[in-house]
Amino acid sequence: MNIINSLTGMIDLIDNSSNKEEIANKIFFTEKILKKTFENFHFYEIRTPALEDTDLFKRSVGDTSDIVNKELYSFQDKNEKSITLRPEGTASVIRSIIEKKLDGDPQKLWYLGPMWRYERPQKGRYRQFNQAGVEILGYEEGMSELELISMVCCINKEFKIESPVIKINHLGSNETKNNFCKALVKYLSPMKESLNEKDLSRLSKNPLRILDTKDSKIQTILKKGPQISDYLSEESLNMLKLIKKTFSNDCEIIIDHNLVRGLDYYSGFVFEAISPNLGAQDAYLGGGRYDNLCKQLGGKDLPAIGMAIGIERLALISNIFKNDKTLVSFIIISSNLEQKAYKIAHDIRMMNSEIEINVQLSDGSLKSKLRRANKDKSSYAIIVGDEELQTDTVILKSLSDKEFKQKTLDLKELKQFITNLE
Ligand code: HAM
Repeated sequence: MNIINSLTGMIDLIDNSSNKEEIANKIFFTEKILKKTFENFHFYEIRTPALEDTDLFKRSVGDTSDIVNKELYSFQDKNEKSITLRPEGTASVIRSIIEKKLDGDPQKLWYLGPMWRYERPQKGRYRQFNQAGVEILGYEEGMSELELISMVCCINKEFKIESPVIKINHLGSNETKNNFCKALVKYLSPMKESLNEKDLSRLSKNPLRILDTKDSKIQTILKKGPQISDYLSEESLNMLKLIKKTFSNDCEIIIDHNLVRGLDYYSGFVFEAISPNLGAQDAYLGGGRYDNLCKQLGGKDLPAIGMAIGIERLALISNIFKNDKTLVSFIIISSNLEQKAYKIAHDIRMMNSEIEINVQLSDGSLKSKLRRANKDKSSYAIIVGDEELQTDTVILKSLSDKEFKQKTLDLKELKQFITNLE
């Protein structure tokens, strides 16, 4: 019979406890550390559904973006309503706070979960991937920009990222953006035949995105054209200088006026963190200010800024690994009094939650169970057979210390041993 495989670009993550450098293990650990970081910054969790009304993304991420144009996983439900697997988290967060009438209050929120984009899979680019994100709602430009870049620096430090670079830019006010786009269109229009198909379409639909072109010929043409820095106000340029000055001791910060981001809702300050160790898909997080989105989706005028971290990409470049807890293998070698033996395992689990206890559930000889315990890198084995059950004792064996002599412990001694384990 045919085997059914996972879909292209969608990967299974299976914990492989014997190799903490395995990518799945690194991903699980990355999620844990990120949650801790968000809580240390005093952000609160928000969880929104994976499926949303397709219009939500058209009206936020924008129908000129690649995400909405080419990458949405959209379906008709049984009522013939168009629904979409979320490609990102920001739109859903704003939809949710408008719906719950929370758009009048400042909020600091975090989320973590799978996102879907129909992209061409390659290293660090999947069709189902995981993002952790934060959104700061209700604060004008200023401290929240600093708060976010402070968090990026803490993430770089926490995950021991080698040579991280943060690229920053400012897209200005709506007026600045419009004036600059008009000048760009005016400059590029006579050179239309030099533009490739993608950039030609950007020129008519979303000219700012041309700055993101990968075509070196167009990059050279752009260098001689209007520059966004000439259109930005003194305050916007000062914001970039302030960020650079505040965080340059922790991380390389580059002001890159070509950084425009791929989602339409941005206005003002934008940024991305990149790593040379990721290859072509080098951004492991990105974000920026999106002051118009809440109103655009029918809510109040709510200033907002946020970012999202690609968990798989961060895990790929992370240099920290799960610090294994002490593992004790609990081996029952008894044919008829298993329940009493199991109760001992249960009682010791209740005594110390800082250690891992693996009750070997299979049948088998003591030898095969000890082999399993060694393979799992257990520090100790606790063995309970018929004789031990009759005398209310257990056998304690060290699997990591050759000097340690096997001992028989009564239940009181066992309690003391387990309670003191770290
Ligand atoms: P984004 O730049 O589209 O921003 O995605 C954020 C991060 O998600 C990227 O830097 C990358 O690490 C990861 N990512 C994106 N697509 C893929 C993929 N196909 N496979 C693996 N990882 C991927 C946003 O999504 C915005 N919502 C960020 C934001 C929050 N802006 C304001 N608030």
